[in-house]
Order: sequence, then C-alpha cells, then structure tokens
Amino acid sequence: MGTPVARIRHLADHSGSEVRLQGWVTHLRSKGKIAFVVLRDGTGICQCVASVRDVSEEVFERICGLAHESAVEVVGVVKEDSRAPGGFEIGISDIRLIQGAEGYPIGRKEHGIEFLLEHRHLWMRHRRPWATLRVRDEVIKAVRDFYYDRDFVLIDSPILTPAACEGTSTLFETDYFNDKAYLSQSGQLYLEPACLAFEKVYCLGPTFRAEKSKTRRHLTEFWMVEPEVAWADLDEIMRLAEDFVAYIVERVLENRREELTILERDTSKLENLTTPFPRLSYDEAAEILTREENVARAKEAGAPPFEPGSDLGAMDETILGDLYGKPVMIHRYPVEVKAFYMEPDPNDPSRALCVDMIAPEGYGEIIGGSQRIYDHDLLLERIEEHGLAREAFQWYLDIRRYGGVPHAGFGMGIERMVAWLCGVHHLREVIPYPRTLQRIYP
Ligand code: 4AD
Ligand code: MG
Repeated sequence: MGTPVARIRHLADHSGSEVRLQGWVTHLRSKGKIAFVVLRDGTGICQCVASVRDVSEEVFERICGLAHESAVEVVGVVKEDSRAPGGFEIGISDIRLIQGAEGYPIGRKEHGIEFLLEHRHLWMRHRRPWATLRVRDEVIKAVRDFYYDRDFVLIDSPILTPAACEGTSTLFETDYFNDKAYLSQSGQLYLEPACLAFEKVYCLGPTFRAEKSKTRRHLTEFWMVEPEVAWADLDEIMRLAEDFVAYIVERVLENRREELTILERDTSKLENLTTPFPRLSYDEAAEILTREENVARAKEAGAPPFEPGSDLGAMDETILGDLYGKPVMIHRYPVEVKAFYMEPDPNDPSRALCVDMIAPEGYGEIIGGSQRIYDHDLLLERIEEHGLAREAFQWYLDIRRYGGVPHAGFGMGIERMVAWLCGVHHLREVIPYPRTLQRIYP
C-alpha cells in the first residue's frame, strides 16, 4: 500500500518505520554533505535530515534549493532523538516539491505588526499565531463542554436584527430590502425568550460594534458567549461566571501547555485561580479608585481621573484587576451607566443588579452581565427613556406579559479571554482575521 502518511504530533506511533510527511519548509540549513529541513505540518514541527550518503545528488540539490514555506512531501524513517524538538527526527530518503514559495514575504527579520496583519493569511502559519489560535480553539471547546455538561441548550441568535441591545452609538446599519437592519451587538435579547422555553440556554457567535476607539481591547467584530438562566438572580450568575472562567483556565492549562510555552506565557499567573473570586460593589471599587495612590497611578499613566458615579475607564479596570492576582467581580453599578434592560437593586434603585468581571494584568472587562427587568411597565419605561423604538421591542416586551420570570445572564468576550490566557497584548492577534476601525483586509 506504499508508505503511510503521518502527522508530526503522532510520530511516536511510527518510531523506526518509514513515513510520508506532508508539510511546509520553515527552516533550512546545510553543512557540507548534510542538510537540515525543519518541516511544519498542521500539528507541529519536526527536523528532517538529508545526507548525500542516503539520497541521490539530485535530491540533495533539490533540498538545498528549497524556498522557505515551500510545500513538500518528505519520505523517511522516524528516529527517536531526545535532542530534537518533539523527540523525533526524520532521515530523508526522498522529497517531492508540491509548490515552491520564492519571494515569500515574511522573513526572519522583525516585521512591524501592521505588515504582519496585512499578511495575516500567511502570518497565520508562524509559531506565535499558530499557538494563539490553538488556544482559542481550546477555549471554544471548553465553553461548549462547560454548558453542555450543565444541561444548557445552545440557541443560535440572529446576526441581522431590527433593534439595538447595547446602545445605539455602536450600531452597524445595513439596508434590509428598503428597511433598516443592524448587525447584532449581542444575542442576549433573543436568549431571554429562549430561557422561558429551555430554562438554561446559551449562544456563541460573532457580534459587531462600530467602536470608533482605537484600543487594544476593542474589535469591531468579536465573538461572544452568552448564557441566560431562568429563575436566576445576580448572585447565581456571579457564581456561574467564576466557575466558567476557572474551568476554561484549567482546560487551557491542561491541554495547551505547549502553546503557552511557545507564547512565553508566565503560567504561574494562571495557576490556582480558585473560586470564589473576590467581589466588590461599585461603591467599594469607587472608594479604592479615589485613594491617593491610585489617583496618582492613573495620572502617571496619562489616564483621565475616575469620577465617582461614572462608568469605569480602561485605567480604572487595570487598577482593580491588579488588586488580587485573579479576576475580580464588580457589581451594582449606577443604573445610568448601564444598559436599559438591567433590574434595579430593590435595596437601592439607583444601582443596577449587574456585574462586570475584570481580569488581571491589564486585560480589563472579560464578562458583563446582569439580572434582567421582568416587569413589563418598568421595561417599557426604560425603553422609552433610552430613546429606543418601541415597535422593534414588542416581542421582547411580550415575554414580560406571558409567564415571565426573573432571569439573569452574562456575556464573555472570547478574544478578551484568549488574550489574557495567552498574555497577548492586543485583541487583534487572537482572532483569525481581525476587524478594527482601520482594518477589514484580508
Ligand atoms: O458588557 P457587554 O457589552 O455586555 C453585553 O453585550 C450583554 N448583552 C451580555 C449579556 O449579558 N448577555 O459585552 C460583553 C463582553 C465584554 O465583557 C467584553 O468581554 C466583550 O463582550 N466585548 C468586546 N470584546 C472585543 N471588542 C469589543 N468591542 C467588545 N465589546 C464587548
Ligand atoms: Mg460591559
């Protein structure tokens, strides 16, 4: 049947036998009569060695002339070698060029980030992006397992919508057969009815915000996972949120060590994130932020000072995120700085029953959530106060007329989570094709 095709991650299964490897040349070095080809496939890298003793002169010449990133098929014997990356080396007996790569634009020299993003379609093959996107894959698998194991039902929310969820200032508008439609900012409004059918639901999909700010924490297209739970109150979803985050961190540490090593992530900062996570009310957080040393820290960083009563800025989140060396949950923000659908706190109606989870190390808010208003008239009042079109929300009001119950949920930004886990500074590097204020190519 000929020589079997092997993948680099599974070379141990083929130790001592001849295999065919299909991949790309990431590095080439020749020394007299020996050539070393570092081959990459989708699963890892492996050193292949050719010697003029074992291959014809023609094959040897062909190897020495290979361009970086050429696609090749190598035939050779798998040899155990503890010094080689991955523990195995291939002794090449033959090589076939599938396609060359003369003039491949990404070199070994330092490129600027804009150049790399302009070549995202190629840059993806390189070590850091490869490791980052494999962590992302594990995060999404962990998200699905977490909810599946807890009896949540996946409800896919629509992307084209007639109404705003998270304020009208970041809406992407599009023409919908002579009507207006908006790209979804959040699946939440569509999950709320679904939680009256299934009790525990979640969605995971792309969301869109016309963010005009250019920051490391904002994309215009990002992925969000949102659970929504019937009968739940704020405390219950705070517990769900901390269990969820701790679970994802644990899964990534368990299954993506190699990738975190490639990324040079200091994993000690991710170990032992035991629950419960610390909780601070907005008022307690405000007190901390107005302490002299924190005012000075913000000033030094050139950030605007925290104003009690206002939403937290990026610097405020960084300060709070640094307090405990693990995520912190800030709850009960002033009603005015939060979305229209949040239930007011019965003990102090100027505060919303909401929570933001803030990650350490400057990654900011990774989760935002709340208990939802379930009284019909109060919700209608809020829709009108926020200047939202009542007609577009009739269906949403309906679930406050027909068997509504208290319910709560939250949203976690996948990219914020992945960036923190990977220790990657900017969100644009943790999504395959980033979309920002200045980028829609490739
Ligand atoms: O806090 P947000 O705006 O909450 C909602 O959208 C709620 N409707 C969610 C819910 O309760 N079901 O967004 C939730 C999370 C943020 O905490 C952040 O992690 C992420 O989404 N996020 C962004 N990520 C990348 N780029 C942006 N522009 C983001 N905006 C929010
Ligand atoms: Mg938020």
